[in-house]
Amino acid sequence: MTIRTGAPVVVGVDGSAAGLDAVRVAVQEAAHRRRTLRVVHAFIWPLLGVPVGPAPGAPAGGGLRHEAERHVAQAVAEAGKVAPQVPVTGVVVDGAATAVMLAESRDAALVVLGHRGLGGFTGLLVGSVSVQVSARAHCPVLVVRGEPHPGGPVLVGVDGSELSAAAIEFAFAEAAYRDVPLVAVHAWLFPSPAGPGEALPVVYDGDYQGDDVNRILSESVAGYLERYPQVVVRHRLVRGTAAHVLVEESKNAGLLVVGAHGRGALSGLLLGSVSHAVLHHAHAPLVVVRHQPERH
Ligand SMILES: Nc1ncnc2c1ncn2[C@@H]1O[C@H](COP(=O)(O)OP(=O)(O)OP(=O)(O)O)[C@@H](O)[C@H]1O
Ligand SMILES: [Mg+2]
Repeated sequence: MTIRTGAPVVVGVDGSAAGLDAVRVAVQEAAHRRRTLRVVHAFIWPLLGVPVGPAPGAPAGGGLRHEAERHVAQAVAEAGKVAPQVPVTGVVVDGAATAVMLAESRDAALVVLGHRGLGGFTGLLVGSVSVQVSARAHCPVLVVRGEPHPGGPVLVGVDGSELSAAAIEFAFAEAAYRDVPLVAVHAWLFPSPAGPGEALPVVYDGDYQGDDVNRILSESVAGYLERYPQVVVRHRLVRGTAAHVLVEESKNAGLLVVGAHGRGALSGLLLGSVSHAVLHHAHAPLVVVRHQPERH
């Protein structure tokens, strides 16, 4: 029997189809990591003073609390179908979704959420719970969106910052679990003439910049090659803005991993513009990493 110790993988469910997609990904993450899965539904109504039991005279088994418990039971059952070897618990926790999931993230190896939930409006690209939890969680957050690409590589955005190093470490572990290649992507922009007659800046040295960005890529991954000899690593230097490049490259990825903010982080900024953009537009599930790894 597999011994499962350490923090669980936690998945948030709200009764939506996207929440169930998150459960299917979360239970596989738990299986890879040899962790348990904890299914959580945050139940706001008692805080708002709304009656949560069955209406007077109505048969037992109705009411909002019962419905909340049904969401959890359905998610636990779904997890059991996907990876029956993973022990799963389910809870209804009274509170607002973001606050509850942030509290859960303190003791989680990973929090998994759908990109949308039951609320929002048509055309909303990502829900408020997903954005806020990604921005403030105490552990990495996996937001399930886009198409699943089974066997697709793990893609990691590299910019030489401290958090991109944390993202690289996370991405190596994921590529090893999944037995897929790791693609380290660095997007870069250099000046080019906008049209005939326009000159490049005098101090600009394209070769030098090319060497420089190559060095960022290889130095960033070098430390992990020994620890993960089984992971095939590819480097991609792509010209363009980081957000565009990562969104584009995510079309065939199994998972995209980014740091919560990059080198341009203003102090106190919770999510950088690239992390924000990929949360809204990525074509694959993505992970936002905001701390040095401890538990994952
Ligand atoms: N009450 C909840 N309890 C636990 N997890 C939740 C809850 N609400 C949402 N989530 C999680 O967050 C994911 C995204 O839902 P979110 O609420 O952010 O989007 P939305 O409902 O479409 O938009 P919004 O609520 O911002 O109007 C869900 O798929 C689910 O994983
Ligand atoms: Mg919602």
